[in-house]
Amino acid sequence: VKVDPFDIVVFGGTGDLAYRKLFPALFRRFLDGQFSEGTRIIGAARHDYDTASFKPTVNKALRQFAAEATQESAVDAFLAMVDYVSLDIGTDAGWDVLAAKFPDSSNYVRAFYLATGPDRFGAVAAQLAAYGLITPGARIIVEKPIGKDAVSAAKINDALGAVFAESQIYRIDHYLGKETVQNLMALRFANALFEPLWNSAHIDHVEITVAESIGVEGRGAYYETSGALRDMVQNHLLQLLCLVAMEAPAGFEADSVRDEKLKVLKALAPIDADNYEAFTVRGQYRAGASATGAVAGYPEDVGNPRTEVETFVALKVHVNNWRWAGTPFYLRTGKRLPKRVSELIVSFRNVPHSIFASDVKILPTRLVVRLQPDEGIKLWLMLKEPGAGGMRMRHVPLDMNFAKAFQIYAPEAYERLLMDVIRGNATLFMRRDEVEAAWRWIDPIREAWNQAQLEPRFYLAGTWGPASATALVERDGRSWYEETS
Ligand code: BG6
Repeated sequence: VKVDPFDIVVFGGTGDLAYRKLFPALFRRFLDGQFSEGTRIIGAARHDYDTASFKPTVNKALRQFAAEATQESAVDAFLAMVDYVSLDIGTDAGWDVLAAKFPDSSNYVRAFYLATGPDRFGAVAAQLAAYGLITPGARIIVEKPIGKDAVSAAKINDALGAVFAESQIYRIDHYLGKETVQNLMALRFANALFEPLWNSAHIDHVEITVAESIGVEGRGAYYETSGALRDMVQNHLLQLLCLVAMEAPAGFEADSVRDEKLKVLKALAPIDADNYEAFTVRGQYRAGASATGAVAGYPEDVGNPRTEVETFVALKVHVNNWRWAGTPFYLRTGKRLPKRVSELIVSFRNVPHSIFASDVKILPTRLVVRLQPDEGIKLWLMLKEPGAGGMRMRHVPLDMNFAKAFQIYAPEAYERLLMDVIRGNATLFMRRDEVEAAWRWIDPIREAWNQAQLEPRFYLAGTWGPASATALVERDGRSWYEETS
């Protein structure tokens, strides 16, 4: 569906995120016919480009990250919408040029995307206000990390809130834009089958794994100030947990969904600081092997032999409410793990009694929701093997691969999210109170680690994290889900 013409200004327009994700995503939406005549995409950064010299950069980004960019005429039509303003966020240089592009009479939606570090968020917001750019149709989009703890997050939110209404602020967690994450809500709330069983009476435990095979790549400087807990758990993993654990919202509009997610965050049991090793594991990868060969360890990757930053976290989490009391949620994420895979696994309780022969091992029903790669859903069931030889049974998956089943192009997270901003739909974005509640739960974990001067435990690149991550679940008589077929 076409949207009315709009303007999007990308601050940090010459940066990595704009190059790899934002321009390619906008291009795909354009190719899909969603943009109307008059739409403008304005890069803004310090670099001394002008509109003409900026376009080749965007062109290159499209060719590299949007395979469809081979269509010359489409690329040209897209580039015709691209503009550039050279400005300095911290001073007034260039801001009048930007302001001049927005006549007072314009009532288009205007989206300001802050693809910059969080230390610039407040300054951009203040300048947008000072130059009269914040109209009722204005929206601001910010990327994580929103701060590095609850205090700094509140400061950033204050600065944004000083000039924008909360309804104009779109905090991106790109995991919420992933197709299968949205499908999780369809699965839960558009089928009568699961919801009656979706509680601790029937669910034994839940796992959330977000594994990456890559290391820190070129992002060492940022990562050294962050680590896996802040980089992945505070946002992506907790958001996934919220969607699995929340009550049914009254509707799908932004505040209904966000109210329910917030309740989950507030119900998270604080990690017991005196006993944190029973609930948390911190790891750091060391030289090992990836699918493509030998790889360096994290200290070499960031050029800091003494670094104590974690690249792996595993947590055992309890949600203290009626629905979930007694059902642990095991979370893990890490870099340089054996493969890239993100999935949610809901393990149901086993049958209370077996009517079959004692050598028939009955395994519990499991629902696996795979976010990437190969998006899909598997429901593991016990079924009888064909044959006349008696009740031989096997644990087999009802297996649905979305690409095969739907055979239509699944948009990337940023495509969906950018268009949601333009349409004014904030359901898949984080509200201020959610971000801060997540930090309030995360901060004590980091403090407990700091106080104990706990160094991360090492794991070899290409393995599933430190041995203590396995112990974390095995102690409870469980094991991490492993794909068997
Ligand atoms: C980002 C993190 O938010 O998510 C990165 O900062 C991480 O460290 C990335 O690599 C993972 O995203 P995806 O979409 O590739 O799973």
